Amino acid sequence: MKLNIKSLATFLFLYLIDACALVPETSNIADGGFKLKEIEDLHIKRSDFPPGFLFGAASSSYQVEGAYLEDGKSLSNWDVFCHSVGCGENGENGDIADDHYHLFLTDIDRIHSLGVKAYRFSISWSRILPRGKFGEVNAAGIMFYNKIIDNLILKGIEPFVTIHHYDFPQELEDRYGSWLNSEMQEDFVHLAEICFKNFGDRVKYWTTINEPSLFTSYAYMWGVYPPSHCSEPFGNCLAGNSDVEPLFVMRNMLLAHGKAAKLYHQIYQPKQGGSIGIVVNCMRFVPLTDSELDIEAAKRAFVLQVGWVLDPLIYGDYPAEGLKYLGSEVPRFSMEEKNIIKNSIDFIGINHYTTIYAKDCTNSTCSPTAKRAIQGFVETTPYRDGVLIGECTGIEGFSVVPRGMEEIVNQIKTRYKNKPMFITENGYSSPDVHETRVNVMLNDVKRVKYHSEYLTFLAKSIREGADVRGYFVWSLMDNYEWLSGYGVRFGLYYVDHETQKRIPKLSARWYKNFLVNNTDLINMKAYA
Ligand code: NOJ
Repeated sequence: MKLNIKSLATFLFLYLIDACALVPETSNIADGGFKLKEIEDLHIKRSDFPPGFLFGAASSSYQVEGAYLEDGKSLSNWDVFCHSVGCGENGENGDIADDHYHLFLTDIDRIHSLGVKAYRFSISWSRILPRGKFGEVNAAGIMFYNKIIDNLILKGIEPFVTIHHYDFPQELEDRYGSWLNSEMQEDFVHLAEICFKNFGDRVKYWTTINEPSLFTSYAYMWGVYPPSHCSEPFGNCLAGNSDVEPLFVMRNMLLAHGKAAKLYHQIYQPKQGGSIGIVVNCMRFVPLTDSELDIEAAKRAFVLQVGWVLDPLIYGDYPAEGLKYLGSEVPRFSMEEKNIIKNSIDFIGINHYTTIYAKDCTNSTCSPTAKRAIQGFVETTPYRDGVLIGECTGIEGFSVVPRGMEEIVNQIKTRYKNKPMFITENGYSSPDVHETRVNVMLNDVKRVKYHSEYLTFLAKSIREGADVRGYFVWSLMDNYEWLSGYGVRFGLYYVDHETQKRIPKLSARWYKNFLVNNTDLINMKAYA
């Protein structure tokens, strides 16, 4: 395991601290869209969304399961990473997390009591294939997910399954360098096939990989996720090349997706009848100023974050706007590979949380990292003239900008000819990361407001014709938030990590009222 303490420390500082504590008291905050009163006046209800629209809640394996070495599971890259460098603020890890591995049955009751029709969760690769393609399938792992799937279906809840959400068996890293090596493509296809074979009779919604753009940049450019690869000026890792490795990793991920999706489309979809997509992290970028250069910078940022994944999977190649900057460094696709990846998704999974300003760096002073091709010569900031783009949350840079939801959906709708979309994640992290008074945590008015406002703008984009088919709250319950450990809470359910007790927050009651009783999105009296 290679340690990368310096860049980790710098990055953690930005990521972990109580983000709102950084905001100067005197600073102004833009409203990020409608004012609450205007939303109230719209009276958006469940019935304003299409009848078959899938409302759900989401989680991921490493963040909730725990049981990190039980019943044949092997160590994952995250187990090894967190045991060695310590991940959260207090060196926490996901060894126990929400102990969902043991508590899944009562958790499914909780999901059911929210009134949702879908639950998004991910498969722990090291639980079902502890040694990847080098070993046997772990029957206990298959049984665990079978029980989850069966119990969800019994309660009328669609399983919406992510095959890979950041965690994989450490053996694949140790043997051949995981995603840096094209061998990982075959390992991923093997995992996907085991999933289709064992679960595909009941799972009708698959996504292959969660947030490839974020994963490649955190793990191979900033070096803050395992395997901690980076180079100056991004960080001082023991290994890596921040300008190039993310491109190779991304190519392997896109081909892994393409091959798994092809297998699904050719062999499994005809008999199982489901659909398959990918999940993309989609920030909304707006130009810092109205200069042509900043307008171009915002477009470039979108193209490099979203287009770099979706253009190949829909149109068969990287976007020309991105190649213009990265051209000589980019490992390209052969004709045969283009045919594999082209048209390989049935829907787009959108993870959207926030909007940020984009500033051009081709022609102005920027940080050394923003002046690199891999960053598209773009610098991002949540401030314009000292005014924060929206209210702060528990994660630095994740400001509340509800109108961004409509804008990002419309941007993706236009670029990809209104391909079906699901909002696979949208959520609010409590800014009071050091807050210990449970009653304050439970009375999460800001989370309710966040979801109500973002949903209002989502409803608007749907009314304007966007083919959005579902919305998942991140997250079902407070969980292990990667580098922030347990210090940041996104859940509809509060989790006491000492006792594993779950308590519904105000937001859980609000969601249920909205879904089951068709109450207005903003109707505080209904769930106070
Ligand atoms: C996206 C990731 O998919 C999820 O794992 C994470 O917890 C949320 N964003 C919040 O940061």
